[in-house]
Amino acid sequence: MSGDSPMGGNFKDVLMANAEAVEEVLDQLMPVDGSPEGRVTEAMRYAALAGGKRIRPFMVTASASLFGVGKICALRTAAAVEMAHSYSLVHDDLPAMDDDDLRRGKPTCHIHYDEATAILAGDALLTKAFQVLGEEETHSDPAVRAELVVEMAKAIGDEGMVGGQMFDLMAQDRTLNMPEITHLQRLKTGKLIGFSCEAGAILGKAPEKARNALIAYAHDLGLAFQIVDDLLDVEGDEKEMGKKVGKDLSAGKETFVSLMGADRARAQADMLAGQASNHLDLFAEKADSLKYLAEFVIKRRT
Ligand code: IPE
Ligand code: IPE
Ligand code: MG
Ligand code: MG
Ligand code: MG
Repeated sequence: MSGDSPMGGNFKDVLMANAEAVEEVLDQLMPVDGSPEGRVTEAMRYAALAGGKRIRPFMVTASASLFGVGKICALRTAAAVEMAHSYSLVHDDLPAMDDDDLRRGKPTCHIHYDEATAILAGDALLTKAFQVLGEEETHSDPAVRAELVVEMAKAIGDEGMVGGQMFDLMAQDRTLNMPEITHLQRLKTGKLIGFSCEAGAILGKAPEKARNALIAYAHDLGLAFQIVDDLLDVEGDEKEMGKKVGKDLSAGKETFVSLMGADRARAQADMLAGQASNHLDLFAEKADSLKYLAEFVIKRRT
């Protein structure tokens, strides 16, 4: 994306600056000590610390900034979200799941280490994500911390991402209709994106109206995000993406693209991203960065 961001620079630079701040926190949260068990921490770092667009952490910090949330609180929550997301990628790539050997431009965790280590690294990333949300540094109010924990659990457990991954596996070589595929994608990808946007409102104890606006933004943008992921699986470039392409078709997976064709899928993603941004009008220019993000999500090539 080439447009100027509300902060005066290129939006990609803003995204990158936020990624660097989150990576600093991730680095501090996963120290290595050379012990035998430290191998799992190294594998966690391998999966979580190199590459990735860091879109979800950006959603956390940008939504938190709407409510004047402290920097450390927002960055720790963003780091927890990225740990949970990275865990989902490590497990998604396993031989029992998508069986992928390339992720974020590098060999997948189970290829670089081994399958058992990758499973454990995923487990530990997930566990640490909740530890971080529960620790006092994340928010001084225990009720806020509890809410973060409960909402993220709902977003990534059987009612969310894991449920979506189950549906995804069950749906292989089966025809899905549009409501079914929409439901699958909302669980698989949409719910964690939803939590990432809602987290700022939770941290900032935002009024219901503001929180609902962020939920509505994430609802539409999450679906647009997954439609673009499906489009890039067909149209994207492996080198640029840092992951294999053409996987959905070869695995017999129904996607928005297989169902409605690339042109209609792209039009749908554009429409949803525009709709997402419209939900933020009540924040006026304070929500510009989230609006730029919506544009980035549909224009991205990676
Ligand atoms: C990829 O997510 C997995 C999906 C949910 C489709 P991203 O495209 O955000 O992956 P990274 O974090 O940038 O690698
Ligand atoms: C997986 O979706 C999303 C997760 C919850 C990890 P995909 O299987 O389409 O993600 P990619 O394309 O491998 O990144
Ligand atoms: Mg998958
Ligand atoms: Mg996959
Ligand atoms: Mg995909």
